[in-house]
This record gives sequence, C-alpha cells and structure tokens, in this order.
Amino acid sequence: MELLPAPRVVVPSRGEVRLTEHSRLHAGPGAEAVGRWLTGALRQATGLPLPEHREAAGAAGDGIALRLDAALAGEEYRLVSGPHGVLIEGGTAAGVFRGAQTLRQLLGPDAFRRAPLRSDRAWTVPHVRIEDAPRFRWRGLMLDVARHFLPKDGVLRQLDLMAAHKLNVLHLHLTDDQGWRIEIRRHPRLTEVGSWRARTKIGHRASPLWDERPHGGYYTQDDIREIVAYAAERHIEVVPEIDVPGHSQAAIAAYPELGNTDVVDTASLGVWDTWGVNPNVLAPTDHTLRFYEGVFEEVLELFPSEFIHVGGDECPKDQWRRSPAAQARVRELGLAGEDGLQAWFIGHFGEWLAARGRRLIGWDEILEGGLAQGAAVSSWRGYRGGIAAARAGHDVVMCPEQQVYLDHRQDAGPGEPVPIGYVRTLEDVYRFEPVPPELTPEEARHVLGTQANVWTEVMEDQQRVDYQVFPRLAAFAEVAWSSLPAPEDRDFAGFEQRMTAHYRRLDALGVAYRPPTGPRPWQRRPGVLGRPLDGPPPLR
Ligand code: ACM
Repeated sequence: MELLPAPRVVVPSRGEVRLTEHSRLHAGPGAEAVGRWLTGALRQATGLPLPEHREAAGAAGDGIALRLDAALAGEEYRLVSGPHGVLIEGGTAAGVFRGAQTLRQLLGPDAFRRAPLRSDRAWTVPHVRIEDAPRFRWRGLMLDVARHFLPKDGVLRQLDLMAAHKLNVLHLHLTDDQGWRIEIRRHPRLTEVGSWRARTKIGHRASPLWDERPHGGYYTQDDIREIVAYAAERHIEVVPEIDVPGHSQAAIAAYPELGNTDVVDTASLGVWDTWGVNPNVLAPTDHTLRFYEGVFEEVLELFPSEFIHVGGDECPKDQWRRSPAAQARVRELGLAGEDGLQAWFIGHFGEWLAARGRRLIGWDEILEGGLAQGAAVSSWRGYRGGIAAARAGHDVVMCPEQQVYLDHRQDAGPGEPVPIGYVRTLEDVYRFEPVPPELTPEEARHVLGTQANVWTEVMEDQQRVDYQVFPRLAAFAEVAWSSLPAPEDRDFAGFEQRMTAHYRRLDALGVAYRPPTGPRPWQRRPGVLGRPLDGPPPLR
C-alpha cells in the first residue's frame, strides 16, 4: 500500500470499500472537527457529497466512521477497512486526524488534488487493518521566514504538507538580522522599518551578486491567528521564535536604542542585506528587557504553544566586550565576563516565561552558563549540546546541522542550485537517528523528538523551498514517526520503492521536489556562488 511514513502494523485482506455518492461520514463525540476536515478534503478531491451520518451504524458498508477510543494513546490510531466500511479510531482527535491522513494515502494520489479529474472514477479503499502510533512526540519543521519571507498562503500550504507527513510542530523563525516578520502593536516600527530590506545578496555572502529589488513582508496579528488556527485544525503546534540577543539587526534598525549605542552608530544601521553571523547584537540593558517583554506579551497572546523559542544562537560578544555600558552591567550583576551576559539574558526570559506558564526553548548555545529547570534545547551544532542537555535533565529537540539542515545540498553534482553545506542525500536523511547511543534510556527520555531546519538565505521563494525540503522531508517524517531499526539496518530500498508512490502524491499536491534524476533545468541557479563543504563533518 506504499504508506509513508510506514505504520507499525499493516494487515491487508481481500476486498475493498467503494466510496460512492451514497457514502456517508460519521464523526463521533470529540472527532467532529476531524470529520469536517476529512469531508472537506475528500469532497474537493472526489466530488462525492459525503453527507454527515449521525449514527455510527449508518456508516456501514460504503461509509467512513471516526471515533475516539480511550484505550489508545493520544496520537495512536487504528484504521480498519472491511465489509462494515472504514473505521478510524484514535486516542484523541489528533490520533483520528493522523489516521485520516493514512486514509487519504489509501485512496490514491488523486485524493491529494483539490478538484476531481473526472466524474466517473471509482474511489476505493483496500480492506486492511492498520495499527499505528508515533515514535516521537515532537516531529517538527523549522521554517525561516526571516531571510526570505514566505507569504501567508505559503505557510498554510506548508502546514498541509506537514500534515500529510504526520508532522506536528511548525517552528517559525520569525525574526533575524534580515527581517522582522510579525506585527507587534506596541512597537510598530518593527514591521514598518524591520520587515523589509532595500536589496539582497544572491547566493553565499562571498558572491558578488545582488538582487536590487526590495524584499519584505510580515504577518499581521490576524494572519498569525489564522496560521495558528489552521495548524490546530491539523493538530500541529506552532512554536514561534523571536531570536535574542543575537540575530537582531532588523530590530535594531527599527529601534536603534536596542543596540550597543556606545560602540556603534546604531542609528545608521539598516535591515541587513547579506548573510552570516552579524556583530550587531542587543544591548544588555533594562530598556531592552522591557522592550522584549512587551514583544513576548503579544507573542503569548497569539501562540498557545507550551514552548516559546528565544533563539540564543550565534551571539558574538565583541560589542559587549568593547561597550562600557555592557561592562558596567557585567560588574553590577557580578558576572564572570561578557559570556555571562548571554546566560543572564536568556535566564531572564526563561523565568519570565515560566511565570506565565510557558517553557523556554533555545538553540544549544543557551546551555553555556547554565539553564533554568524546565527549559529545553534545540541541538543544532551536532548531537553534543543535546547530549549535555539531556544529561543535565533538560528536554531536547534533535536537529543537528550535519544531518537535518535541509538548506544543505542533496547531491554532490554540479547542477545543484546554490550548493550550501554538506551533501545530505535522501538516504542520509533516512538513516538519521535522533537518539544518540551515548544516552542511557533514562536520559533518552529527554529527547522529545526531532525537527528538520529550513534556513532560507539561498531559497528566495516557495519553489526553492520545495526543492530543498522534498523529497527529504518524506524520509525525515518516517524517521520521526516510524519505529525504524538502527540506521545501518534501515530498508532504504523499500523506502525508495514506497517513494515512487509518494512522488505521485507530491505531484498531486503541486510540490516542486528534487527529482531522483536531478534538478530540472529551471530548478538550477547557474552562476550563483554557494559554499559547498567537503570532507567528513564532525558528527557529534
Ligand atoms: C543556527 O543554525 N544558527 C541555529
């Protein structure tokens, strides 16, 4: 049946359920919203009316029934297609929703289209019994909408693609040196000034090329509400990232007093137009803390997520070293030096979030200098940070750049568009293991899961994002959802076999993936300088 990600148990049997214009859908208590979603998706693709049936029994034969089963865990589901019709049961509505995604795969690739291709085709579900549950509770995708803005429709589409792969966390990287992408009512210049730049470097920062068109965009608070609600309908949590104290030049361009005004003329800074690690970081002042508390207050109103991401990565300390004001702060707080300012800054927001019932998560640099209980770490510089965090009792999301940075090129060939980083093929991602063997079972329980990170410096639009993300996200989704054997024992040939069916689904969804044979001519970017890395990278 070529399901992807692979379910735990699939027992096929002879026969099929045929959906017709008489078929009905019954959604039991707690599953009504999933019923509405599934009816909508199937009506679009099949043209069948699928009216609601109030009685489960009435869904017999040629119908679909959805219901909760308290004996199942939250996202666990059971899908049985047989003489009684199709029954999907989940531990919660989330479990039913995951099962509904499996049903869509069972109906064939055209079930992923938004209108029927013809009116006379038969829609059948083979008889089968499927039992399934995720390996990890955090199966994420990080989308960088700061370097290149992805308009709202693109984010909603990405949520649909995530849902089709049973992913459940969208980490939205909303702010960076090159752009501020979320409306903050009390600080309007963050978007008036910070949401656009006059021009953009094309390719790696060493490239001589510029795109001289202004680039920008941001989500209004209503756009964010819509994104969060759309995600919730798909049982996806949106975790916002506001990156502090580094990666902040767009905010400083909007409000120069946020920067280290005693060592740089922050009033002359614009939104950054090129790439790399930026020296212009936030000043460690009370004013900065109050300003960002105001930002986070609005962020908490918009995002109900348990975790709030505060960035914390790549904050050069040079300006703090030279700034008399920052040095006075070091002395006043009794810190060991400017390195301590970073831990103080992050610690402040960790406590601030905890007092409001939320948990801080940040990139693994936040471990330096100690981390408050309850805070969690996104381990990006290999596994090392994640191992240290888990051993110290912190929860971890594994996203090592050596394995699951999808901006990295996926083939060594010369045709790859703007080749960045290491070669990480579909097979490499399929053999990625989120839990390092060094961890004891007790420590490994702190690994909440894993996410793939999509940094968009060299991805200027949706097509470029599609190319970098797919097909590798399909392999990643199976790593995150399915209970696969050890990396060397994984059946990549079997996965590739299932991918042949999955490419047809991606085609129906309109995904501009990288074909197995290499980029199509229009997917190349000849002449744009990248930065391919060679040699064996440090894996942890
Ligand atoms: C990162 O890649 N700087 C988290």
